[in-house]
Amino acid sequence: MSDTPVTVLVDCDPGIDDALALFALVQWEKEGRVRFEAVSTVSGNLPLRYTATNAAFVLDKSGAGDIPVYLGADRPLSRTHLQFAEKIHGPDGLGGVYEEGHVDPDETVHGAIELARRVRKSAERSSVWILALGPLTNLAIAFALDPGLPDLLEGVLVMGGAFGAPGGNTTPWAEFNFAVDPEAVRRVCVSGARIFLIPLDVTHQVPFTERDLQRIETRTKSGRFALGLFQAGLHLQQRRGAHEMYLHDALAASALILPDLFQFHECEMEIGLCGDLAGASLVRSRRPGEEVRTNVSVAFGVEVSRARSFLLQTWGGGGASGF
Ligand code: RIB
Ligand code: CA
Repeated sequence: MSDTPVTVLVDCDPGIDDALALFALVQWEKEGRVRFEAVSTVSGNLPLRYTATNAAFVLDKSGAGDIPVYLGADRPLSRTHLQFAEKIHGPDGLGGVYEEGHVDPDETVHGAIELARRVRKSAERSSVWILALGPLTNLAIAFALDPGLPDLLEGVLVMGGAFGAPGGNTTPWAEFNFAVDPEAVRRVCVSGARIFLIPLDVTHQVPFTERDLQRIETRTKSGRFALGLFQAGLHLQQRRGAHEMYLHDALAASALILPDLFQFHECEMEIGLCGDLAGASLVRSRRPGEEVRTNVSVAFGVEVSRARSFLLQTWGGGGASGF
């Protein structure tokens, strides 16, 4: 086992849960667990200009070094936007936490092009993972630009999909990231990349509530920033009459550090592309004797208490002991 930390490239659409995932990655990089190299952003929870500036702001407040942020796709490959998600993340995408005057994203190169370039370059010296926390538009573009990328990647860890019936959060059948750009999901699934999927079926097993606030020990300035994001997310849910919130992307990110938190199953996944089933993720069951063409490892189980404790300690800036 190489002692070189894996390189992680994040594609995201901050959003509060993306933001808490980015915070956690900065912590894990400080602990030498990962080499957090760069962020590409995509239109999703909010339009691209918000998700890109939010990512740069969050990295700055999280105490990241010079982790660059790039602007990627400002629209899906194949569909006009179903909807943004201000009701979950607020009009600024960060529950009102955003402040002007921080580091700007790099506008010199398209995020998908930079993602492709960095995968190829980093794979020369370490294992490389893409952590995809928004619609998969940038990944689909990167894989089209350089079809050799999937073979260079250790894996693609994706927050997305829903297999309950109905289990969606955007339509009865579709999870948001998949609903926004189902064609991108299709292209990534047939790319040959090793995909590990953390769907709503798992993230909805891990609620966070008001009671968790005192478990985020704010020993650090950056920890107080994470606490502010957490409180903002809860407040938005409480205004909608809910008592809990689900931090889908942060939970997905934890699989990079503690994959044994999750029970993965090899599946053959199809994606609905149009009509009422657009964005629906469907797992083909194997007929007797049929060879299943595995294209995705899907998590259907999670160690809830251990996952919650691990993330709450990480957000406190107290270091993740991986217990
Ligand atoms: O359905 C949840 C996913 O969609 C999360 O990644 C959230 O940030 C939104 O992008
Ligand atoms: Ca997201």
